[in-house]
Amino acid sequence: MRPDAEKAAGFVAEMVATRLRSEPRAVLGLATGRTMEPVYARLVAMHRAGLSFAGCWTFNLDEYVGLSADDPRSYRATMDRLLFGPVDAVRVRTAVPDGMAADPELEAARYEAAIAAAGGIGLQVLGIGETGHIGFNEPPSPLGSRTRVVTLTAQTRAQNAPMFGGDPGAVPLRAITMGVGTILEAREIVLLATGEAKSQVLVRALEGKVTPDVSASALQGHGRCVVVADAAAARLVLGGDTEKLGSTTL
Ligand code: F6R
Repeated sequence: MRPDAEKAAGFVAEMVATRLRSEPRAVLGLATGRTMEPVYARLVAMHRAGLSFAGCWTFNLDEYVGLSADDPRSYRATMDRLLFGPVDAVRVRTAVPDGMAADPELEAARYEAAIAAAGGIGLQVLGIGETGHIGFNEPPSPLGSRTRVVTLTAQTRAQNAPMFGGDPGAVPLRAITMGVGTILEAREIVLLATGEAKSQVLVRALEGKVTPDVSASALQGHGRCVVVADAAAARLVLGGDTEKLGSTTL
């Protein structure tokens, strides 16, 4: 646990930077969402101080079906703005599912194959949705699911409405997402959760049973997964025992 969102994000950024320094050609799995914004801001600052992304490959978790790369609300445009543009990433090595693909299911299969062709993901960064999703693996998502087209829940569309002028109805209904099984194949995973709104779902994911109804619960079975949370998100974890939380790698 870290006391606030800035420090939690800094910890995750440091994990990514450490990986890039030791393995410049690392394959990174990346997430979008408000939780990640301070992580990418920190990585951009580190880039200005010398950290290079020039050798790495990246795969984003998901994209809305129907949004193009030049739509500022698409995850491709968001990543270009927050990270890929400001750093020295090589664009052809930054992958985001194509939300405008004529056949989204085919695009999902292509994306899954591209991850495998890159040798799989070395370090995967995750956020968690209020429905317990990782990527856009809404409940119920089979724990072995692969990259595919999913329908977003009303709760997720409401969560993401601020990026769509506050209107949940404007949030696309479908997305392409890496599956739970795809995510679990990453060799190392770090999940970042910040803010009170994530506290209920975080405790379900970490202490509840492993279930397709909370796709983040699948991480309990991953041998190398670190959960980084700020005090607000961690409030209910381990019964709120801040002594234990301070030192526990969950
Ligand atoms: C986004 C993603 C989602 C988000 C989650 C949290 O690529 O895969 O799982 O990480 O919805 O979103 P924020 O950070 O906006 O609360």
